[in-house]
Amino acid sequence: MLEVSQLSKHFGGLRANSNVALSVRVGQIHVVIGPNGAGKSTLINMLSGDLAPSSGSIKLDGREIAGLRPDEISRMGVGRSYQKTNIFSSFTVLENCRLAAQSRAPHAWRLFTPADRHEPALALARHAITQAELDGREHRIASTLSHGEQRQLEIALSLATSPRVLLLDEPLAGMGAEESQRMVGLIGKLRSEHAIVLVEHDMEAVFALADVLTVMVEGQVLASGSPTEIRTNPQVQAAYLGHAGEEQPHV
Ligand SMILES: Nc1ncnc2c1ncn2[C@@H]1O[C@H](COP(=O)(O)OP(=O)(O)OP(=O)(O)O)[C@@H](O)[C@H]1O
Ligand SMILES: [Mg+2]
Repeated sequence: MLEVSQLSKHFGGLRANSNVALSVRVGQIHVVIGPNGAGKSTLINMLSGDLAPSSGSIKLDGREIAGLRPDEISRMGVGRSYQKTNIFSSFTVLENCRLAAQSRAPHAWRLFTPADRHEPALALARHAITQAELDGREHRIASTLSHGEQRQLEIALSLATSPRVLLLDEPLAGMGAEESQRMVGLIGKLRSEHAIVLVEHDMEAVFALADVLTVMVEGQVLASGSPTEIRTNPQVQAAYLGHAGEEQPHV
């Protein structure tokens, strides 16, 4: 579904990503881990089109998408959530999701009259709310939701665009134990219909969800493989002990 190779991004002299490779298909969660500043968000930003790569290839279903605009990539079926939230806080859950569905709607929808145009967007919004397990909260103003529910809404916003690929950048950031557990359950369920690239620091969640793991350090892929391969990789253990002691994988 998504095939990344030789992907690089340089900010002046800083090599934020160097020759990164990664692939993911529907039914799979590919988790990217690494210390702060390793280049994980930069990678997600290139996959979503928010940043243009310096060089390299990103193929979606065999089609090159590297360097396309975010709205183009979104219409091709790549949805993302942001490390910092992207919600309209004074709007309801349903309005937020409807706007997300509409803003990235295919051009064909412009043939509908303005009144009709709301219908498919509303249907997509309602479906996204159910998928994100926010049923019953459609008419709540977003700012009145708990932190965990706002992160679920963030997921709903990306689901409202009907993505096949989901890019999730630290969806558990700032969550308590109970909220984290709910989010892990939710992401696990989304796997069956999506190809998921997940950036996460919470190692319990990482190992609960990962089908494939890629470890990034200083813009490069240090190791990639099954959770067991990564857990037992001495280089990975050394990198984590060196850079982020308390975040080392449980071994
Ligand atoms: N727009 C930018 N301009 C210049 N440098 C940037 C830009 N975005 C990121 N960087 C730098 O690139 C490097 C990688 O940053 P990035 O945000 O991708 O790391 P990260 O792995 O997501 O870290 P964290 O775990 O803290 O979120 C860092 O040194 C960062 O300062
Ligand atoms: Mg980041």
